[in-house]
Amino acid sequence: MKQLTKVLLGTGLLVLAAAPAHAGEKIFAAKKCDGCHYTQGPAREKSIADQLAKKGPELWYAGSKFQKKWLQAWLQDPKPIRSLKYNSLTADNPGGHPKLAAANAKAVTDFLMTLTSKSVKAGVIKPKKNPKGRLIFVKKMPCSGCHAFPGKKKFKGGRSGPSLVGAGKRLNPDWIFAYLKDTNEFKPVRAMPVFKGLLREKDMKKVAQYVASFK
Ligand code: HEC
Ligand code: HEC
Repeated sequence: MKQLTKVLLGTGLLVLAAAPAHAGEKIFAAKKCDGCHYTQGPAREKSIADQLAKKGPELWYAGSKFQKKWLQAWLQDPKPIRSLKYNSLTADNPGGHPKLAAANAKAVTDFLMTLTSKSVKAGVIKPKKNPKGRLIFVKKMPCSGCHAFPGKKKFKGGRSGPSLVGAGKRLNPDWIFAYLKDTNEFKPVRAMPVFKGLLREKDMKKVAQYVASFK
């Protein structure tokens, strides 16, 4: 190895050799996670056909989107997030997402958390129930028409978007706001209406705070 290092130093290739693929990245490939998820941004899908060819959600901004603790736990015990099958508008989510053992889940989480988007500014959104956010979510822009959310006694809301029950534990509040503001950057083939122009930034913050408070 020393010998090799010397040779590489000589050729200027050391940088490449000294940065071994992240352990979690190797596991991600070995477990064939990359067969359904891509991890390099920016977004690749340009048409509906591209979107339909995807077998799972893009993960290139996973480190900005998810909360680390949730991610590590979910990879070991993945419960359905979307009530419908990915990319389907009718079929139920069959579940059965591949599971990882604890050590692998930790390594893969560490890897995924390194994948971030510059569009997500940290520390902007604090989770908070608020009447304006609720009004927008439930009535004005009806987010609730497509997303399940926690009601007083049971879950309510639509099924075409991912469930937002537990969003307060799953999603980074700052990502929720960034996603409302720059929807196309994250999901360019619109599966969700773009709210830019419909909602003022101030109101996007309110609704992001509200969603981030979902238990
Ligand atoms: C056969 C395709 C397939 C394989 C293989 C696969 N996934 Fe997934 N993955 C999916 C689908 C579909 C979803 C959406 C599940 C849901 O909404 O319930 C998903 C969701 C996820 C999510 C949450 C993303 C989000 O935006 O909701 C993460 C994180 C994830 N997978 C990581 C992994 C890892 C790590 C592996 C390898 C151990 C893996 N996946 C293997 C298809 C796959
Ligand atoms: C017409 C249906 C529809 C409406 C209305 C809608 N969404 Fe969505 N939303 C979606 C779909 C579809 C996705 C992405 C699907 C995917 O990645 O599988 C999504 C994704 C999301 C996500 C990311 C969830 C995740 O786990 O990946 C959040 C947060 C979100 N929407 C919040 C909102 C808010 C807040 C509003 C109202 C201002 C709203 N949505 C209105 C359909 C909708």
